[in-house]
Parts: sequence; structure tokens; C-alpha cells
Amino acid sequence: MAYTLDFGTPVNTALLIYILYSVQKIVFPSTSIPKTVPSEFKHGYSWMPKEHPPTVLFKTYTPKTLEPFNGKNGGRILLAINSIVFDVTAGRNFYGPDGMYGNFAGRDASRGMAKQSFDLDMLTAVDQPLDKLQDLRPDEIENMKGWIEHFSNKYVICGKLVENDAA
Ligand code: HEM
Repeated sequence: MAYTLDFGTPVNTALLIYILYSVQKIVFPSTSIPKTVPSEFKHGYSWMPKEHPPTVLFKTYTPKTLEPFNGKNGGRILLAINSIVFDVTAGRNFYGPDGMYGNFAGRDASRGMAKQSFDLDMLTAVDQPLDKLQDLRPDEIENMKGWIEHFSNKYVICGKLVENDAA
């Protein structure tokens, strides 16, 4: 008797084809990059975002290179406290040009934070050496440290502030 391939009923044939199709999808998953960025996992896991998300680089700033980050052009806002540079862009309401603490944007805010004052004379001119804060009282230093803690819990540390001629 001649050997014939018998799949049984058409239903069985359909099931067999479906199983073979499913198995090959598992063994050879699609790795093609979709044309549009998928918003759900419908297309499987092998996709890449359209572009790399923005990254924050830890950098060394001087008073002069920090100054442009004052938010006046709508860009990032940075400020320094005790040489730690924070990215306070998320607090634009506070530090933007119309913000209550706008004076601190792009500047070394250490003295103002220590003395709890946003007066302009708390700031050191950007072409001058860094404020050494040597005349501050212990309670003012403590106050400044309290602000550093507040900022560390809220904003990203993105650099350190060094003398103009040190970078
Ligand atoms: C006129 C008196 C003042 C009022 C009514 C006031 C009001 C406020 C308010 C409502 C907040 C927001 C608090 C929050 O949402 O967490 C705040 C935050 C703050 N204040 Fe004042 N403040 C005053 C004086 C000062 C002074 C003199 C300084 C000087 C250092 C200062 C520095 C700050 C800072 C650094 C923040 C934190 C902003 C942030 O989280 O990014 N404030 N203030």
C-alpha cells in the first residue's frame, strides 16, 4: 500500500499549520525595527526608541561657564551651592527670569542660601575668585547645608564649580 500523508480532517490541517507558524515565530522572532515608535508591546520586545533620551553629564563649571545657564534664553537653569552644581531647570518657577529666586540662576548661590537672602550683594561677580565663605557663622553654614540637602533630594547634581582659571 502506497504511503500517503494524512492530516486527517481540514480542521487538523489548519491547526497543524497554525502550530508550525507559532513555533517558527518563537524560534525565529522578528527582529525588524518597526517604522513607527510602538507605544505598546504589541509588536514584541525587539524595538528601539526613536532617539536616545536626554542625558545629564557631570561637568566642571567655572563662574563664567555657569552664568549662561540662567534660564533667560528658556534653556537649562543651573546654580551652585558650596561648589555643587544643581540642575534646577524643573524649578523654573523659582529660578526663571520672573522667579522669586531668579538671582541665583547661573550663579554661585552659597552665600545667599547660607544667609537666607536673595539680595544681589550675596552674589560674587563671575570674573572674581570663588566666594570662600570664611566669614560665615556656624549657623549660617548649617543653613546652607540644609539647602544642599533639600536640593539633593529634589534636583540632579550635574557638576562642580571651580575657579575661572582652574578649568
Ligand atoms: C519673603 C519671604 C519668603 C517667602 C514668602 C518664601 C516662600 C517660599 C515658598 C512658598 C517656597 C516653596 C516651598 C515649596 O513648595 O517647597 C519657597 C521655597 C524656597 N525659598 Fe523661599 N520664601 C521667602 C524667602 C526666601 C529667602 C530670603 C530665600 C533665600 C535663600 C528663599 C529661598 C528659597 C529656596 C531656595 C526655595 C526652594 C526652591 C526649590 O525647591 O527649588 N526664600 N519659598
